[in-house]
Amino acid sequence: MLTVRGAGRRYGNFQALEKLDLEFGHGVYGLLAPNGAGKTTLLKMLAGLLPPTQGEIAYEGTPLAALDEKYRELLGYLPQKFGYYPNDTPLKYMQYLAAIKGMDRKSARERSELLLDMLALGEVKRRKMKTFSGGMIQRVGIAQALLNDPRVLILDEPTAGLDPKERARFRSLLTQLGRDRIVILSTHVVSDVESAANEIVMLKDGQVFVKDTAEAVCSLLAGRVYETQIGYEEAEKFRRQYPILAERGERGEREGLHMRFAAESQSAMPEWQAMKPGLEDVFLYVYRDTAVHSPGRSEKEAARYENG
Ligand SMILES: Nc1ncnc2c1ncn2[C@@H]1O[C@H](COP(=O)(O)OP(=O)(O)OP(=O)(O)O)[C@@H](O)[C@H]1O
Ligand SMILES: [Mg+2]
Repeated sequence: MLTVRGAGRRYGNFQALEKLDLEFGHGVYGLLAPNGAGKTTLLKMLAGLLPPTQGEIAYEGTPLAALDEKYRELLGYLPQKFGYYPNDTPLKYMQYLAAIKGMDRKSARERSELLLDMLALGEVKRRKMKTFSGGMIQRVGIAQALLNDPRVLILDEPTAGLDPKERARFRSLLTQLGRDRIVILSTHVVSDVESAANEIVMLKDGQVFVKDTAEAVCSLLAGRVYETQIGYEEAEKFRRQYPILAERGERGEREGLHMRFAAESQSAMPEWQAMKPGLEDVFLYVYRDTAVHSPGRSEKEAARYENG
């Protein structure tokens, strides 16, 4: 069990995270939040690489700082940006890291080959990594994090650059790994964790917004997601009035805009169709004022909506 008690992190005068209370047992946890929300900061603290400026993080009851070397032995970590020598082959790179971790030559070789095969890199294990695509490099990163068969596996945006087929393969790997260890990964791609994670952790305003199953997180928006068709001329007003979750232009007979949006059920129009909320809806709704996702809505507008 990995336990976070009142932990926070300040960078100079900037409080990036505060008052976090979290518990992680065996399973897969998806840390889902937009850019700058503090995902990397939290993962680095959980990996024992960044000391919290307040509170404490403990593994099986012992603070990470006290475990030190022992914690590193049972930890696998994929940094958001990981370093490698471009002229190295994946096999050489893996064996080098295995040596640092104190594995003997034979088991280092065997384990490296096994992991590279598992991540569909078997055929390119002797090719220089400078010739690799972003997705291939990312898979080398995932493989190296698994070298010591870690009890705690922390992956910072492991699916960045993976194509849909590799994402699907990665999701089944996650499920497999989460059975007998703690797996925590960050992402802003909702589909990465919607089905594969046992629990979703969302950060907002430097704190834990929610930590629960995907189903429970989705129920936060129960009865508040609708779809309807509107004319192009109404679009601006509509976008100001409701948080938009998705929209697409319809052509032909039904020319206009098909909108998916959030609204209070008591204000629902008869022509609106009630929809089952998905995790993507919750993400867009919760972070609707975050610049990256909703450039059109200001805090003030949101407050006005909230107050009816
Ligand atoms: N070394 C640092 N010094 C100062 N501020 C930092 C430092 N590292 C992170 N921050 C700030 O802390 C906040 C959280 O950053 P963090 O990298 O943890 O976010 P993130 O959720 O991982 O973002 P991304 O999705 O872009 O990777 C940001 O506002 C960032 O600017
Ligand atoms: Mg990050």
